[in-house]
Amino acid sequence: MSKGALSRRARKIKPSPTLSIDAKAKAMKSAGVDIINFGVGEPDFDTPGYIKKAAVKAIQDGFTKYTPVGGIVELKDAVIKRLKDDHGLSYSRQEIVISCGGKHALYNLAQALFDKGDEVIIPAPYWVSYPPIVELAGAKPVIIETREEDGFDLDVSALEKMITPRTKAIILNSPSNPTGSVFSAKTLRQMGNLVQNHNCYVISDDIYEKIRFDGKKPVNLLSLNPKLKEKVFILNGVSKTYAMTGWRIGYLAGPADIISALTNIQSQSTSNPTSIAQKAAVAALNGPDSFITKMVSVFKERRDYIVKRLKAIPDVTCVKPQGAFYAFPNVSAYYFRGYKGRKITNSIALCDYLLEEARLAVVPGVAFGDDRHIRFSFATSMENIAKGMDRFKEALKKLS
Ligand SMILES: Cc1ncc(COP(=O)(O)O)c(C=O)c1O
Repeated sequence: MSKGALSRRARKIKPSPTLSIDAKAKAMKSAGVDIINFGVGEPDFDTPGYIKKAAVKAIQDGFTKYTPVGGIVELKDAVIKRLKDDHGLSYSRQEIVISCGGKHALYNLAQALFDKGDEVIIPAPYWVSYPPIVELAGAKPVIIETREEDGFDLDVSALEKMITPRTKAIILNSPSNPTGSVFSAKTLRQMGNLVQNHNCYVISDDIYEKIRFDGKKPVNLLSLNPKLKEKVFILNGVSKTYAMTGWRIGYLAGPADIISALTNIQSQSTSNPTSIAQKAAVAALNGPDSFITKMVSVFKERRDYIVKRLKAIPDVTCVKPQGAFYAFPNVSAYYFRGYKGRKITNSIALCDYLLEEARLAVVPGVAFGDDRHIRFSFATSMENIAKGMDRFKEALKKLS
């Protein structure tokens, strides 16, 4: 196929770096290499049995046909109940859409909301998919840096200065992938005031909201400023909370007219999310929280351990993650050192070195908009984390 055959859009887009590191690590593992994979973005827990049972029942009951494009009523109602119970927010069915994963809901929202020339403000470090999803809709990502010294919290007055008449939306993600940081209540209140005074939307990506280590209830921009409902979209899904990444169910709550346009876009691409997975998601959202509590306590133990190990390595700094299952250490002190004639110049070079020399799969920070860092997912066993940290420490020690 000649290069000219591809659309300009397709030529610009790169594969998700987190998924490609994971694929590389899995390929090495199946070739017999003893790889420790810190690249994964999914819980290493099985989907709870009662959720699987609901899916099996859906199959046995013949619930295997097209459903309404934007999701079954039962699932929309389960989402509405969650938003009420968790955030005190009231939504109607017209304000909810169910998509094939949170990523799909965000993609469709971008298609429904953004035009060429629109700007979308994204705090860095950011989830890898935000800029490409914005660009695929023809809009321009505008990146605002957050600082390690501030625990990656947002400087709202700096963000306000970046707002222009073309700013269509701001994307917030808390707890964050890749830093695990949680925005402070002060930041969310300041953001609320800012949004009130400007003509733009906020997309609150709450996908990790239940994976928090401080024991606090989930909080987002709207729970603190409910009057902003017409300007805020809440993005969430069952992937991370219920270890259901493969089931592909995400959801979005927002103004009814935009949710309706988004549903039309969905109707011309995927149609409804899988009927069986929707039934499983109903069981997940309406079920007990005991699975989440257990998973979070395991993640917390690993978080404490990995941060302790990372901080004990000379010249490595690491902000303690408050949620999600990632640690994002700053390793830039090791740049411009080398080993056996190989120079480490950036996060990609370091991750290549770690993969080849230490058999560690880690994601380069540049993929998240900060080249000084690398991302470790601790969604892997304590034994792997301990072995991996030994290898990491040794590999950095060899660099001179
Ligand atoms: C910050 C963030 N948002 C959204 C998603 C989307 O998850 P899914 O499409 O599995 O619902 C992910 C997955 O990695 C994520 O890390």
